[in-house]
Amino acid sequence: MPEEYTENSSYETETSGAAKLREPRGSLRGATHTVIERARYSEDGGKLALLHGSPRGATPTANERDQCSEDGGKLALWLAPLAGVTIPPVRLFFSRLGAEITHTEMVSASGLLYKNKKTKSMLEILPGESPVVLQLFAGDADSLVRAADFALAVSETNKLQNGAASFYALGINMACPMPKVQKRGAGAKLLEYPEIAFSMVKELKKIGLPVWVKVRKTPQKNCLTTYQFIEGLIEAGADNVCLHGRTPAQRYDGIADKEIVCGIARAFPGKISGSGDVYAHEDARVYLDAGCVGVMAARGALANPFIFRSDPSYPPAKEQLSLLAQFGRDVSELAGPRVAVIMVKRLLAGLLKGICGSGVFRREVARELNYERIAFLIEQGIAKNSVECGVQCH
Ligand SMILES: Cc1cc2nc3c(=O)[nH]c(=O)nc-3n(C[C@H](O)[C@H](O)[C@H](O)COP(=O)(O)O)c2cc1C
Repeated sequence: MPEEYTENSSYETETSGAAKLREPRGSLRGATHTVIERARYSEDGGKLALLHGSPRGATPTANERDQCSEDGGKLALWLAPLAGVTIPPVRLFFSRLGAEITHTEMVSASGLLYKNKKTKSMLEILPGESPVVLQLFAGDADSLVRAADFALAVSETNKLQNGAASFYALGINMACPMPKVQKRGAGAKLLEYPEIAFSMVKELKKIGLPVWVKVRKTPQKNCLTTYQFIEGLIEAGADNVCLHGRTPAQRYDGIADKEIVCGIARAFPGKISGSGDVYAHEDARVYLDAGCVGVMAARGALANPFIFRSDPSYPPAKEQLSLLAQFGRDVSELAGPRVAVIMVKRLLAGLLKGICGSGVFRREVARELNYERIAFLIEQGIAKNSVECGVQCH
């Protein structure tokens, strides 16, 4: 289990995100516009408006996707929910790179109902983001629905403050294998309790937004097969079911079973999206060719953020560093420098691959605990148009 996959883990805002949006701080590196301003004037505002303005059906139509994606929407590649990672500025980063739909990290329904400040900060959406699916986890339908109602009210308030969209769909996590989630009857535990799972979908549907569910392949001993469980979810009203082809016991190990996902996609046309071992366009195509309406990139998005572009090859070092610098500024502005340090290091792991000197550069950044120092190193790399850091290339 990745240690980051913890409940409401690392979006460690120093104050509430909404407050920061009202009074954005000046950028450390002298940028003249705040994240919000940049997003408002970004070129893709019109394209996003098209998608946001679409009827809230199961998933965007192929036509809507074509209009939305920066490069023609050839692949319906979406950013998976990643606890401790898919905070708003990270989603904005991937939206700019072409992720058509993104997810929040899984958000605790009970955390929202207890008005936990950190949990509430996970509800923020930034202008310029691609449509966002809010993923909740709960052990019963009642707390799930109350939490969703609360989340939508908060999101409406945020919308008035920053002009961003509201959530595109409401997601339910029935996939998380973590003991601390399962022991509350949530996440993958729900695979063992189909009646509760189906009632959650049925009740959540009453809110009126599309309902998306993320599940895993069910274990052999489960009362229902994967097919039967998903059939029940769809009969209960689920608009999209994302199937991750690993059992809860497998966690993130071993090879994801793409065959089971493809078989289920053929059985339920228009309803299934796929997850598991998506590291390249070819991996996504396996799912899409079988009839999945979309594919979630998870660890593959961190391994190569350019996977969302029609050309997933790495751009020149300077472009990558500029994107990283912008990302660092956004995170620092919205979530504070401490989170920026963590997130910049996290994204850097997937950047500059194969570039001479990148290992040394990465180690230099890894040593730093201060965001301003890291920002300086990145700017230095941009100015030098390299990341050689004084080390000779052979
Ligand atoms: C660090 C991490 C955090 C994750 N957090 C979530 C989560 O909050 N909700 C969820 O449904 N899945 C979560 N997942 C599962 C991923 O969305 C995805 O289904 C899984 O990693 C399989 O895809 P991959 O093999 O392409 O990485 C997480 C996975 C990782 C590695």
